[in-house]
Amino acid sequence: MASSQTLTTLVIFSLVSFSYAASGPPKLPKPKAIHLPVRKNQTTLQYYTTFESGNPEEANIIDALIDLGSPSVWYDCTSYVSSSYKRASCGSSRCTKARGSSCIDCNKTLRPGCSKKDTCGVLTYIPYLVYYTDQVLSEDTMRVYSTDGAYVWFSYYIKKFQFSCALTVEGLPGDHAKGLAGFANINISLPSQISSSLKLAKKFALCLPSSSESGLGDIFIGGGPYYMSPSIEDQSLSLVTTPLVVNPIATNPFFADEEPSLEYFINVKYIEIHGKRVAFSPSLLSIDKNGVGGTKITTMEPYTTLHSSIYNSLVKEFTKEASMNKIKKVKAVAPFVECFDSRTVPNTITGPAVPNIDLVLEGSTVRMRLYGANSMVKAKKNVICLAFFDGGISPTTSIVLGGHQLENYILEFDLTASTLGLSSSLLLQNTSCSHSRVY
Ligand SMILES: *[C@@H]1O[C@H](CO)[C@@H](O)[C@H](O)[C@H]1NC(C)=O
Ligand SMILES: *[C@@H]1O[C@H](CO)[C@@H](O)[C@H](O)[C@H]1NC(C)=O
Ligand SMILES: *[C@@H]1O[C@H](CO)[C@@H](O)[C@H](O)[C@H]1NC(C)=O
Ligand SMILES: *[C@@H]1O[C@H](CO)[C@@H](O)[C@H](O)[C@H]1NC(C)=O
Repeated sequence: MASSQTLTTLVIFSLVSFSYAASGPPKLPKPKAIHLPVRKNQTTLQYYTTFESGNPEEANIIDALIDLGSPSVWYDCTSYVSSSYKRASCGSSRCTKARGSSCIDCNKTLRPGCSKKDTCGVLTYIPYLVYYTDQVLSEDTMRVYSTDGAYVWFSYYIKKFQFSCALTVEGLPGDHAKGLAGFANINISLPSQISSSLKLAKKFALCLPSSSESGLGDIFIGGGPYYMSPSIEDQSLSLVTTPLVVNPIATNPFFADEEPSLEYFINVKYIEIHGKRVAFSPSLLSIDKNGVGGTKITTMEPYTTLHSSIYNSLVKEFTKEASMNKIKKVKAVAPFVECFDSRTVPNTITGPAVPNIDLVLEGSTVRMRLYGANSMVKAKKNVICLAFFDGGISPTTSIVLGGHQLENYILEFDLTASTLGLSSSLLLQNTSCSHSRVY
């Protein structure tokens, strides 16, 4: 590993110096993939990424909430300064293409996001407040960094990166966050714009960290390899894949025009605990013509929520298996309900040794195995609790897979093949999603 890294450094170094000699400023090789960091905030339990926006001399650092289900990218432009910033005017072709919904006049101090009149407004969904707002359609240059799967290398500019400027941003979770980065399956999402601008494969991978104290998590745009040190394996070679499923009806409450959902759904066929099938009606796992049922993946919910009948069965089977393993049940610690004495559970590299929960997915032998690190959460001293919530008897989506259950796996969304590639828990290889990738 170390020596192949040195070799890469040498090769790239000589490429750079060669082009310097030949033609003045260095011409960088076309990137194979782009890397963005992922930070987790332990208070909000949300995930954030960081990138630069604006003309290179005075770039604005944008700290943005990661939302797999949001279509577009938006920032609070209150303190945004950039001479390359452009707004779209209403009626312009750019506005029509972006499905501009209104003309915005702003009578406050003029700045990006506030122009006197006739600015193109686009309807933007604010997921954590569950409402839509009109925001100013904008574009500017964005700067991102290339990766070889192990380290972060050169910076590249995305010209005409499209986003919207919020006039005011209230209640954005996490006090450093200035905006939101949407990763949904549409061409204006953050990864889609980067892929199409740099001509990369239309895929991205997420590696969500359980904590960012010892290093940051990863977003890879454009494909592998994916190296998770100290493991020397290219993780992209051992992903198992399951189809991404299209929900015919968007699940967020305000979509009036019944469009297909841009969120990521997968097909969970059944659930097993320590090899035993959890009993519930299989019809809950398919999506009906009204868009109800099925399984979606979200970064906005910290924990997985299950339809009551799945939740109750899962709890029953889990506690039965736990008691057979002499794991002692204790009083609930809110907001969790099923809690255990951690002194009765041995610790392993994959967390507390509780019964494994397997989500068996469509595709031959594809399962997502949740070990203790992903199924349990430490609620207080000596108490661990089952990290799942009861979603009630009529949730729109039966299984909403949330952040805690996705941590320390690689999830690769391939938008061309329409598949989700999944690693096994990285903890099994004594590694995780927390790394430093600066060389
Ligand atoms: C996205 O796709 C729509 C419809 O196909 C197109 O009109 C629009 O220009 C595209 N936008 C971007 C930013 O590529
Ligand atoms: C600015 O616009 C708001 C809303 O359109 C309006 O209520 C307010 O009176 C305006 N202020 C000035 C100084 O024109
Ligand atoms: C996490 O978010 C909370 C709540 O907004 C904030 O007070 C805190 O400073 C944030 N922590 C980090 C490390 O960003
Ligand atoms: C992980 O580390 C433990 C001890 O630190 C060691 O016993 C084990 O063999 C390692 N496993 C792998 C897969 O490297």
